[in-house]
Amino acid sequence: IKNIAVLTSGGDAPGMNACIRAVIRTGIYNGINMFGVMQGYQGLITNNIIPMDARSVSNIIHLGGTILKTARCLEFKTKEGMQQAYDNLQARDIDALVVIGGDGTFTGAQRFSKEFGVKVIGVPGTIDNDLYGSDFTLGYDTAMNTVIEAIDKIRDTADAHDRLFFIEVMGRDSGCIALRSAVATGAEAVLLPEKQTSLDELITQLESGASTKKTSSIVIVSEGHKAGGAYDIANRVKERFNHYDTKVTILGHLQRGGSPSSFDRILGSRLGFAAVNELLKGNTEQMVGLRGNDVKTTSLDEALNKHSFKLEADLLEMAKVLSI
Ligand code: F6P
Repeated sequence: IKNIAVLTSGGDAPGMNACIRAVIRTGIYNGINMFGVMQGYQGLITNNIIPMDARSVSNIIHLGGTILKTARCLEFKTKEGMQQAYDNLQARDIDALVVIGGDGTFTGAQRFSKEFGVKVIGVPGTIDNDLYGSDFTLGYDTAMNTVIEAIDKIRDTADAHDRLFFIEVMGRDSGCIALRSAVATGAEAVLLPEKQTSLDELITQLESGASTKKTSSIVIVSEGHKAGGAYDIANRVKERFNHYDTKVTILGHLQRGGSPSSFDRILGSRLGFAAVNELLKGNTEQMVGLRGNDVKTTSLDEALNKHSFKLEADLLEMAKVLSI
């Protein structure tokens, strides 16, 4: 391997810049020519590929977002798009890629490797913490801290006004942020994509709090919850539960920004360093992830096909017990 490129794709996640820095510098340290691809797979197709040196990644370890930008690219799913991307890499003699992103990113990378022989290593970068093979994905820890800070603030005003708040958090298919933030903030109830909670059940929970002198409550709604978004659910609850005034807050994309936590800076650095070392060993179609406190590889196949986040039964039970 002589030339390696790195890209970020899909939703951005805090810690991506720390990871890009580690990839570029580990490659350069080992005598490899390093490139950055702008806007994920889009930049591979439009030939937006730039040579990077050690100084190209100075002073970025503390920044959220991604200096390489990111995109969700439909064209890369087509044969023609992939061919164009391959031709652009060939023209620069780039034979390996580090891709930082979530499952959509890995699906593209795996096809690219199988159909065109480009060596690929994936780094799990998504706030959703939903990839098999890594206990934590890059960005999840920072996002959790952001979510908790926001919910704590809402708790103050909910208490001051005696109100019921529905707070919607991210996680299209994964209730990880929702469940763990519910435990960390002492929310009264949590609605998750992985688990049906009926309106009756939710109202019983809220009624029980009201009957034991609770004067405000917080319900966390995961955006992937099957029975609808926070506004929807709040409206339906309002019709049957009128102990407090009801308000809704959607935390939205603020969960994806901000300076990465120490955990995400270190995780991004470790995984970026490991990704390049895997390529130098000749490996491909692997994801580097954290298991226990060790960096381990998992095949992209497994990472994509095994189910990722499983609701922790103890947290589910505990969230209920501790919020009586
Ligand atoms: O990064 C993953 C994620 O945060 C999901 O939880 C969410 O559904 C999605 O991104 C939204 O991303 P966007 O609005 O940028 O497409």
